[in-house]
Amino acid sequence: MDLARIQTVAEMRELARARVPRMFFGYVDSGSWTEGTRDRNAADLGRILFRQRVCRDLRDRSLATTMAGEAVAMPLAIAPTGMAGMLWPDGEVALMRAAEAAGIPYTMSTFSISSIEQVATAASRPFWFQLYVMRDRAFVADLMRRAWAAGCRTLVLTLDLQILGQRHADVRNRLGAPPKPSLPVVAQFAARPRWCLRMLRAKSWSYGNILGHLPDVDGLKRMAEWTAGQFEPNLGHDAIAWVRDQWQGRLILKGILDPEDAAAATGLGADALIVSNHGGRQLDGASSSIAALPGIVDAVGGRIEVHMDGGIHSGQDILRARALGARGVYAGRAMLYGLAAGGEAGVARVLAILRSALDLSMAFCGHTGIDDITPDILLDPRAAGMQQGVGRI
Ligand SMILES: Cc1cc2nc3c(=O)[nH]c(=O)nc-3n(C[C@H](O)[C@H](O)[C@H](O)COP(=O)(O)O)c2cc1C
Repeated sequence: MDLARIQTVAEMRELARARVPRMFFGYVDSGSWTEGTRDRNAADLGRILFRQRVCRDLRDRSLATTMAGEAVAMPLAIAPTGMAGMLWPDGEVALMRAAEAAGIPYTMSTFSISSIEQVATAASRPFWFQLYVMRDRAFVADLMRRAWAAGCRTLVLTLDLQILGQRHADVRNRLGAPPKPSLPVVAQFAARPRWCLRMLRAKSWSYGNILGHLPDVDGLKRMAEWTAGQFEPNLGHDAIAWVRDQWQGRLILKGILDPEDAAAATGLGADALIVSNHGGRQLDGASSSIAALPGIVDAVGGRIEVHMDGGIHSGQDILRARALGARGVYAGRAMLYGLAAGGEAGVARVLAILRSALDLSMAFCGHTGIDDITPDILLDPRAAGMQQGVGRI
């Protein structure tokens, strides 16, 4: 299938499903428990309607803006996602390269398959690094030092993964990095021979930032146990202050969904926060990110930038979030579908699809500059016949 013929993220998702073993597609695609919050992220975005305007000068359009003080070609970053390197050999490098070519930030996950240094070697400008505060604080401090040494200047600190939500697909598919060999697992791999052949080229098959960097965590089994025991159930403001102290660059707090938490986060020395429910992978039954966004923008009152992720599948979605006060958005699954379907070229194709629709939709709303977008481009929800369900929008 020629990637250029793919026109939507939904089509890319189907191609991804056909190209990688079931356990990895399930890992990317699934949400926690009923997957209700995952689905609500996209559904609530889709309900927001635009005002179509005419008789405007639509020449000379620009999507260029800034996110957390960094110039971006459009208000979109690639969200941090663990295990991208199981979808495509050196998948994190492919994501980083596609982001560089599109002029947007790539956020590398702590739980990447490539190491920070492997991605840095291939990068020609700084990428962003996502950090989990783990129980082994010396290891966390070392990760920050390594990220800084690799040229990262923006740290995205994830707050909503102190404990893990359950995704049924991962249990059923026996997900692991690397997967434990068993008949059902071998059968999943045998069904994707081209993926198997391609993955022979991969430089790493397990968490690259962890493997080999702790003296007593060498074997893969031992590393999986160590990682599972590292989630930090006690992650208070003191832990954020500790990170702030160690990190000289820009700091973004990820995973805030409540206005009270958002207001509290403005006093912690961060440059931005990300309204996020982790793509509906943690608290099932939580509100969608887009529904939470206006309340958080109010609570923050301009003291720090507000960003958003969750359900971004189109350029129109980026515009909707921007109109409701998000300075920029992040896409997780949309990027991973592209990666699984076609590596760097697949990610580039998804970015081109999003960019084109963002540009044209902005123009249909009567604007030529992304920085001029305000809530005024949206139809009043009551006029659009919408019932409740999108919070205060
Ligand atoms: C497969 C997958 C892995 C993820 N891994 C991480 C991670 O390592 N760190 C993190 O902060 N967020 C992680 N996330 C959450 C994303 O950063 C982001 O919040 C979410 O994907 C946004 O929703 P979307 O997938 O609908 O775009 C992951 C999401 C997915 C889908």
